Amino acid sequence: MAILTLPGLIDPHVHLRDPGATHKEDFYSGTAAALAGGFTCVLDMPNNTPPITDAAALAAKQRAASEKAVCDYGIHFGASADNTEIAASLAPQVTGLKMYLDQTFGPLRLDSLQSLVSHMAQYPRDVPILCHAEGRTIPAAIFVAQLFDRPVHICHVSRQDEIELIRAAKDKGVRVTCEVAPHHLFLTEEDCEKIGAGKCQVRPMLGTRADVAALRANLNVIDCFATDHAPHTLFEKESAQPPGYPGLETALALYLELARENILTLDEVIARCYENPRQIFNVPVQNETWIEVDADAEWIARGANMFTRAQWTPFEGRALRGKVTRVVLRGETVFENGRAFAQPGSGKNIRPF
Ligand code: NCD
Ligand code: ZN
Repeated sequence: MAILTLPGLIDPHVHLRDPGATHKEDFYSGTAAALAGGFTCVLDMPNNTPPITDAAALAAKQRAASEKAVCDYGIHFGASADNTEIAASLAPQVTGLKMYLDQTFGPLRLDSLQSLVSHMAQYPRDVPILCHAEGRTIPAAIFVAQLFDRPVHICHVSRQDEIELIRAAKDKGVRVTCEVAPHHLFLTEEDCEKIGAGKCQVRPMLGTRADVAALRANLNVIDCFATDHAPHTLFEKESAQPPGYPGLETALALYLELARENILTLDEVIARCYENPRQIFNVPVQNETWIEVDADAEWIARGANMFTRAQWTPFEGRALRGKVTRVVLRGETVFENGRAFAQPGSGKNIRPF
């Protein structure tokens, strides 16, 4: 049995739904899912109800997280059409500014060129801007960032033309980084029949086989893996059909599959789920923190057995290899053999204020 000892993983893109939709997930269930998946730090997205676009909403999220989280966390702030100044002033308390340039779950889509320009112009250069951008909004985000001499991070790249454009930009020395979600590396639109029409909804939608092949062929320009853990209940997925997949508890086994397929080395996997996100999002080193992974353990993905309140997975029934057996956070065993031990509130905000 090969037990790997790895650094606690960092997921730069999760939706823990707290406050506002804690029936889908809250800071306890979401961070327990993170520990079960081998993550000791998660960065949470702002498309809550209400969205995290002002000081009061940020304070409410900071409070919920400080009471419930069992792994460390950072909070991404949301860009809106009229919060340029407030976003910039709160930058020291957050891990990034998220701009939604296309429609997805929640009300945060930014439609005007003016909003894109004003945030890119005024947001502090040392805190990342992350863009949900698909297709033609990717070059828009990259160009405006470049104009204002700042880096930009493109979330969940999913298409061949997108990754090829990012490769071309990087080749020119443009300061752009990007992430890919495990479902865009392991599922295609053809899987929707098996997953079910409602459950299959996700933004960006699953791509073609050619898109998956292109992402895999361009892993060297992909800086980070990010689950985009976006829990909704089964009832919601089958009725209103909101987009999003839970992903924290299946991600590491899938990332390890890339190493077993010899597409990446183990070190290259760790670069994408630890070192690069740590550098891009300025995550402080977590002392005495590591995970132990039984790399050979075989298991079947079952939503009903997971910590996520969503209780389902798009990988339902899939045979996976590699299971987290123990997580040590700041010297304490917080997860072992399927059980989370940490006290709610023991997770720390990586941007204390
Ligand atoms: C996310 C959600 O549910 O919050 N859904 C999704 O399909 N990815 C929103 C997002 O990340 O776009
Ligand atoms: Zn997301």
